[in-house]
Amino acid sequence: MNQKDKIKIFATRKLPDALCKELQDCHSGLELICTETDTPLGKDELLKRVEAEEPYGIVITLAEKCKSDVVSRLPESVKAISTIAVGTDNIDSKACKERGIGVYNTPDLLTEATADLTWALILAASRRVIEGHKMCVNNRFAGWSPTLLMGKELNGATLGIVGLGRIGKAVARRASGFGMKVIYNNRKPMEISEEAYFTDLNLNPPEYVTVDDLCRLSDVISLHCPLNKESLKLFDEARLLSCKKDAVLVNMARGTVIDENALVKTLKSGHFMGVGLDVYENEPEIHKGLMEIDRAVLLPHIGSATTATRWKMMSSAVNAIVEHFRDMD
Ligand code: GLV
Repeated sequence: MNQKDKIKIFATRKLPDALCKELQDCHSGLELICTETDTPLGKDELLKRVEAEEPYGIVITLAEKCKSDVVSRLPESVKAISTIAVGTDNIDSKACKERGIGVYNTPDLLTEATADLTWALILAASRRVIEGHKMCVNNRFAGWSPTLLMGKELNGATLGIVGLGRIGKAVARRASGFGMKVIYNNRKPMEISEEAYFTDLNLNPPEYVTVDDLCRLSDVISLHCPLNKESLKLFDEARLLSCKKDAVLVNMARGTVIDENALVKTLKSGHFMGVGLDVYENEPEIHKGLMEIDRAVLLPHIGSATTATRWKMMSSAVNAIVEHFRDMD
């Protein structure tokens, strides 16, 4: 094989051996080097490893930061960064573009898995699933009672979606099965062509409202917006308090879309029937206050974590770099 057909990719995490083999078999000339561990690489460690390997591409995760301070120090060999995630808020895409580095993510692949887990959180928080489970395993179930662990009726309730992108739409689609009305807020209302996602399935397209109206009107609020200047701390104390007192709030977007201190404060004051969180402000740290609240259902950022979806995401992250390399040829 010609030296110029060889491509080296460095992955900041240990990818499954079987996947690495599949990828190496599929792409002749691919040298895929994975770290030995499955913990996030800090900035210095990442740079040290990349400087030592001098790869063409780096596969990262949402837990590794590639902001301008890192991008500016990457060796010349690096021409592509690919993240095993849909969100790219951890990458400075502008700095990458200026250095001629391509940035890739894995949209589409995780839409349905993430929408499913959103519903797991909506149902768990609305129907007090974790409280019920704890009652059973702690031997506190004293028999059927007409008022035991009464939750929120979803049928006929209003679901407010903040961020009606791919995942938001897939969450909205599932809402019809629960008999819910859906309203949404986005940077801008859907085009007619986008509404076909719903009308083609004989579903009513969700109605566009302001964030203020969404908070005022929704029984369940589900966050799916990307993290950017507009969405950072979008749910501050005032906005949290503007939601219905017995609303359910679910966050599958990024932790910093909600002011976590304010959330704990409002929960402690009795606001919200329940919350379902898959993301946190300072991951992997979780605010202690949240852990003390039974109405908070907490998951460790596993929105896309089905075996099939994660396999496709890891594979696609590597393939994107190989394609970038071939296109540059
Ligand atoms: C998960 O949060 C992702 O961005 O893929």
